[in-house]
Amino acid sequence: MSFEIRPLSDALGAEIVGLDVSRPLDDATFARVHRAHLDHLVLVFRGQRLTPQQHIDFSKRFGPLDAHPSQGGAHLAGFPDILVVSTKRENGKDVGVRNAGPTWHSDLAYRDRPALGSMLYALELPDSGGDTGFANMAMAYDALPRRLKDAAGEKRALFSSTRNTSLHALHPVFRTHPETGRKSIFVNPQLTAGIDGMDAPSSSSLLAEIYAHCRQPEFVYWHKWRPGDLTFWDNRCVLHIADHTRLDDPAYIRHMHRTTIAGDVPF
Ligand code: OGA
Ligand code: MN
Repeated sequence: MSFEIRPLSDALGAEIVGLDVSRPLDDATFARVHRAHLDHLVLVFRGQRLTPQQHIDFSKRFGPLDAHPSQGGAHLAGFPDILVVSTKRENGKDVGVRNAGPTWHSDLAYRDRPALGSMLYALELPDSGGDTGFANMAMAYDALPRRLKDAAGEKRALFSSTRNTSLHALHPVFRTHPETGRKSIFVNPQLTAGIDGMDAPSSSSLLAEIYAHCRQPEFVYWHKWRPGDLTFWDNRCVLHIADHTRLDDPAYIRHMHRTTIAGDVPF
């Protein structure tokens, strides 16, 4: 099956044009998609029309899925593997997770095995806003000043869930990608509580310096969603954030489905 790979920015991201992922991919096509994901870190499959089951089946090509822990009530009825990311309300209740990405983060970083990646599928989009930012943490690691690399070195950080603080894990500040061997910055401002073995003020100021570095525009791509986009980020070396500046506007309707592919223990 032929398709085009078009880079979306100098930092990361590529669109996949002309590939229908609702049908099983042959092995050669899958290998090319997999390679593109490792090379570009975020893939945007344009123009998809997926049923929930087709979305799940395509996601499973990359590994077993990981049901989201905050999914109670936020999953799609009958599909525990699909997390609903939506601003919609029904009978006074949110139909899913209203603001899934308020600050820069990676998914499930507070688990022993954070996600390999997530696949977010746009079903309804607002007329403006609701972009998703992605930041390349491998590129950010390479450009990190020596002083900051040395200060965090082989240290680990504590990650905990903002919704449920009983969910927490220790992971390296800088992790190594299990498939490419590239190092990247793994700490993030939403879920990292502090650096293990450092006093709180030193840990906070070191993390603040690392985050200021990570936020630089040269590492970031802002995705403007189009209907039918299925976005797949490599959660092991990418941070993401949602721009929800219109979240309180009743005319702001943004409705998406997400699957989460299980990852392994960071090293
Ligand atoms: C997510 C997430 C960002 C967005 O679904 O994990 O962070 O733009 N979403 O909705
Ligand atoms: Mn997220």
